[in-house]
Amino acid sequence: MWKAVVTAAVALALLLCQSSSLDNGLARTPPMGWLAWERFRCNVDCVDDPYNCISEHLFMQMADRLAEDGWKDAGYDHITIDDCWMSMERDDQGNLYANKTRFPNGIKKLADYVHSKGLKLGIYLDFGTHTCGGYPGSIKYLQQDAETIAGWGIDLLKMDGCYANVSDMSWGYPDMEQYMNKTGRPILFSCSWPAYAGGIKVDYSSLEKHCNMWRNYDDIQDSWDSVTGIIDWYGDNQNILAPAAGPGHWNDPDMLIVGDYSLSYEESKAQMAMWAILAAPLFMSNDLRSISAEARSILMNKEVIRISQDSLGMQGRRIIKEHGIEVWTRVIENKDFPSYAVAFLNRRSDGMPYKYSLTLDKIGFEYYMGYELSEVFTNQHYGHYDLKRVLTLHINPSGVVMIYAIPMS
Ligand code: GLA
Repeated sequence: MWKAVVTAAVALALLLCQSSSLDNGLARTPPMGWLAWERFRCNVDCVDDPYNCISEHLFMQMADRLAEDGWKDAGYDHITIDDCWMSMERDDQGNLYANKTRFPNGIKKLADYVHSKGLKLGIYLDFGTHTCGGYPGSIKYLQQDAETIAGWGIDLLKMDGCYANVSDMSWGYPDMEQYMNKTGRPILFSCSWPAYAGGIKVDYSSLEKHCNMWRNYDDIQDSWDSVTGIIDWYGDNQNILAPAAGPGHWNDPDMLIVGDYSLSYEESKAQMAMWAILAAPLFMSNDLRSISAEARSILMNKEVIRISQDSLGMQGRRIIKEHGIEVWTRVIENKDFPSYAVAFLNRRSDGMPYKYSLTLDKIGFEYYMGYELSEVFTNQHYGHYDLKRVLTLHINPSGVVMIYAIPMS
């Protein structure tokens, strides 16, 4: 009997504690930056591959590039360490520490360096017994690890969910959020919880109280198939996912792979455009030391970034899917009637630009005076379109035409 009462009291206390919400004030627009995982993985071989291994050198070099090559000024201001940074064991007090060969100066020094460049440092932990790469997990050390990373001056935590019981996540991630709040240091919280809990079987209205962003689907890989697989999943599940996004809390379709090995120019523009339409966090995972001018121009495109960072924070939706063409729209803040960003995405592979026509009323535009249209990547001004004027576009295979539509003034 007493045991039952005590259990109920503890459960109630936990519930009360967990219902208080994430109050770090961060990520009012989708966060931007650079994240090591997709491009640099768990390469710990600093003997044979010192230039590319997961080490303080790599992060210092990327921080230099972010700060000196205009990325930071464009908004890419986080640099985030992923898996495989830790020592394989905790110390005698149970504290985590970085691998001493690869991070000889420790994470605090690296954070100081990153901060001296005007950037923010993110780090990776795992909620379970081990990280996905087999390093120590945080399940028994949530508070201690929150205090450790806050003490180092960490600004973002990506908390993964390998080697964990999904049923523990509904108390564990909120607990971690509380422990981070208690440190007094605002730490952007990126939760992988939904990705492990089935992506759509998640109570997103409760999740947004605890996490600033969350992975909900498979890891991105360096291929167009992977990018389109993610886009499809977001389109197919948009009625659940789109309402979950907003200032302070975002769906995360994973990293931008623009500048890596696989995507063509058209596909690169398409990923960038779609991530902006989805109000996705923009974390590049590429080698900023050798990135091409072409990839850079896509990632730095001011108009696309402006769409991504729109203050309304409304995630876009797939409105039309026909003949291998998808039309996605995102509402953009405007004084009276909304503006729109529209991505026309060509999923066809039949070798020539596809001629596609539509009128604006078909995609839900309502302003009776019509809209001024321009193309985002070419800056081409299309002029005035009322709701019934036929708009004809030529969309390259696996490419995108991205329109910005402003209501006539
Ligand atoms: C999981 C995550 C990835 C990455 C790896 C690291 O697969 O989804 O983003 O963090 O673990 O091991």
